[in-house]
Amino acid sequence: MGSSFSEGDYRELLRRYPTGVTVVSTTLNGRDFGATMNSFTTVSMNPPLVAVFIINGSRTLEAIGKSGKFVVSLLSGTQEDAAVGFSRDGDDEKFMKFSKSSTSDGIAYLNESIGRIECDLFMKEEIADHTMIIGKVTSSAIHNQNTSMVYYQRKFASTGK
Ligand SMILES: Cc1cc2nc3c(=O)[nH]c(=O)nc-3n(C[C@H](O)[C@H](O)[C@H](O)COP(=O)(O)O)c2cc1C
Repeated sequence: MGSSFSEGDYRELLRRYPTGVTVVSTTLNGRDFGATMNSFTTVSMNPPLVAVFIINGSRTLEAIGKSGKFVVSLLSGTQEDAAVGFSRDGDDEKFMKFSKSSTSDGIAYLNESIGRIECDLFMKEEIADHTMIIGKVTSSAIHNQNTSMVYYQRKFASTGK
């Protein structure tokens, strides 16, 4: 049981850690931005804070910095097309292919997700090649009772009932 660091082994280990899958979105000057994110986590309940870690250079990250608002859509087990579509670098028309709605603040989100978390940007901190985005939850809603999406071993799967 060696304790030295091997990036290959480390990546291999992380692939065995299942996560949920979200699409983090915002709208700026009438343009919608969004990206698939599995780094979503809750931070605290009082006040309700969530975090997501976004690669520097992401257009969604830049737009959130300017709009000051974002929505986290929690994907259902049947939304593999959205998970793949919103992870496509350089695609400016991601939202065109999916049914969307807008929050009362005019921020776009995916209709078919199991639910959404609406946030105001609370804190933004650059950490190495990512930026930590902390959101203060202003509203949340359950959209349906579908199964949830899981990302595991570089594949998308669905939770049981
Ligand atoms: C399952 C999955 C999870 C991902 N999670 C993240 C993440 O947590 N943070 C991140 O910066 N990129 C993540 N990505 C990559 C982004 O979705 C991808 O870079 C996206 O194209 C960025 O789009 P944008 O430049 O339009 O913002 C993930 C991709 C996949 C497939």
